[in-house]
Amino acid sequence: MYFEAGDHISKGLPHNPFKAIVAPRPIGWITTLDGEGNVNLAPYSFFNAVADNPPVVFFASSGRARGIGVKDSQANAEETGEFVCNVATWDLREQMNKTSASLPRHQDEAAHAGLEMIASTLVKPPRVKASPIHMECRYLETVELPCDDPEGGNFMVLGQVVAFHIDEAVIDGQGQVDVTRYKPLARLGYRDYAAVTEVFSMMRPG
Ligand SMILES: Cc1cc2nc3c(=O)[nH]c(=O)nc-3n(C[C@H](O)[C@H](O)[C@H](O)COP(=O)(O)O)c2cc1C
Repeated sequence: MYFEAGDHISKGLPHNPFKAIVAPRPIGWITTLDGEGNVNLAPYSFFNAVADNPPVVFFASSGRARGIGVKDSQANAEETGEFVCNVATWDLREQMNKTSASLPRHQDEAAHAGLEMIASTLVKPPRVKASPIHMECRYLETVELPCDDPEGGNFMVLGQVVAFHIDEAVIDGQGQVDVTRYKPLARLGYRDYAAVTEVFSMMRPG
């Protein structure tokens, strides 16, 4: 099968397979504060690490143009210069999903999902207490991406990780983070998710 981007329907694919192809994608569960200090929490699967010295991550917000009002996580990160990435786990899947509700800008999705938050160390947005790993980030810049919807927008929000919190319980005897102890969630296409439950290792060729 061959088709040019956007032409999947003519090939009998009712849903765009792009996100099922670029899968699994980690979920950045992003905490921000608005200018008045209200907490905002939302999952982003257009999320990843893009550098490690220093560590840099991004989340990408899609669907809303600047004129209409970008998503709250983006607006808050740009306004306050900070965000926190919480790791979404198998145990937290329902709460993570609940925090994707489109609540008005200043409403707290963490409270809506019944999640307890705890203070961060170097940045002001708080962390999801039940999540085993948090990365405190300082906002770097927003890259505006092309958007086929004239009323929409796509934005890549980059941040530098300035601090990590890792629950000791997920660190193994060799001092390595063992993902099988917390089963990070990943987003696939359609309505599908995966949880990482198995790991294998390989040596790079010398
Ligand atoms: C697992 C999951 C992943 C999501 N990934 C994205 C994403 O990468 N980009 C995006 O714009 N919205 C994504 N969403 C939808 C947002 O979470 C949703 O629009 C949310 O209301 C945004 O909240 P905010 O306005 O408080 O930032 C995702 C939702 C779920 C459940």
